Amino acid sequence: MLEVRGLHTHFLARGFDNQVRVARALNGVDFTVGEREIVGLVGETGAGKSLTAYSVMGLLKPPAKVVAGQALYNGRDLLALSDDERRKLRGGEIALVVQSPKSSLEPLTTVSQQLVRVHRAHRQVDEAAARVRAVEMLAAVGIPDPERRANAYAHQLSGGMAQRVLMAMALINEPKLLIADEPTTGLDVTVQAQVLDLLRDLVRARGMSALVITHDLGIVAQYCDRIAVMYAGQVVESGGVMDVFARPSHPYTRRLIASTPDSLARRGGRPLGGAANPPNLYALPDGCLYADRCDHAAAQCAVAPRADPVAGTHLVRCHFSRQFALEPMA
Ligand SMILES: Nc1ncnc2c1ncn2[C@@H]1O[C@H](COP(=O)(O)OP(=O)(O)O)[C@@H](O)[C@H]1O
Ligand SMILES: [Mg+2]
Repeated sequence: MLEVRGLHTHFLARGFDNQVRVARALNGVDFTVGEREIVGLVGETGAGKSLTAYSVMGLLKPPAKVVAGQALYNGRDLLALSDDERRKLRGGEIALVVQSPKSSLEPLTTVSQQLVRVHRAHRQVDEAAARVRAVEMLAAVGIPDPERRANAYAHQLSGGMAQRVLMAMALINEPKLLIADEPTTGLDVTVQAQVLDLLRDLVRARGMSALVITHDLGIVAQYCDRIAVMYAGQVVESGGVMDVFARPSHPYTRRLIASTPDSLARRGGRPLGGAANPPNLYALPDGCLYADRCDHAAAQCAVAPRADPVAGTHLVRCHFSRQFALEPMA
């Protein structure tokens, strides 16, 4: 359904000395989202998760620029579409739920006006029919008293309600692919579970596919079929959730798993070693991008590893993945 291949996105900036500096934010992102699959895209802040979504959706603003790669949606390269073609797909067949719901709702229009506008931009329906549909969608995303809430403004909604409205907006045109960027960050745990349960049920019921961006591995374990782990603008490990959690085979994935609250508690709060600095995107090494943070770096790591299978569709970008695959987690 969606196949992202070798996606490179850079920020180009000219310094005071008039030299162009390049921040290599995405360095060959590869992953796929299959029919009816929910894929979790994880990684620490700054790994390039949002940038990946924005690149695929054609929503980058200068100085960010896709410099190489493809994003094939049912075989069509989204990166090669005209603005017009892309606008037609976006919000129709492919929908994005962005980070921070409150700031992405318009302050001066009501919830229903915003839903109606999105619906009518993509479907030939009159105002009244669109309004009926808007209220239906608010009910479908679990908003109590949807008739009344339809007339609310963004500032009158709680964070959880605003997130549901954004989901209603993303789903109103029955997209085939939903991309949700941190859909529950900032919500309390109970509301978070409600929103994610809803997302999963809607995705399943409507036969959609979804890419869920999060930094929470617990969410991935509970809601996703497959996982893609990002580091420094690359997917360093991907595969079925069961496979990756059972046999994490990239040192970075292993560190992420080791830093979950459960795992930390098991080791008495001791984090796994290694420097904690994020990579400098202006001066990335030629070899493995993770090498300078990796406890296992060796001479081979001066050569960039490819993402190779350790088993089936479980891919790992590390020269020593086979060894890690066999090593039990601490
Ligand atoms: N204007 C910019 N110039 C250079 N680098 C930038 C700029 N904007 C964002 N970045 C970098 O792009 C990287 C990817 O960011 P992002 O996709 O938002 O990460 P994530 O969503 O995984 O937290 C970050 O490391 C960030 O520092
Ligand atoms: Mg982000």
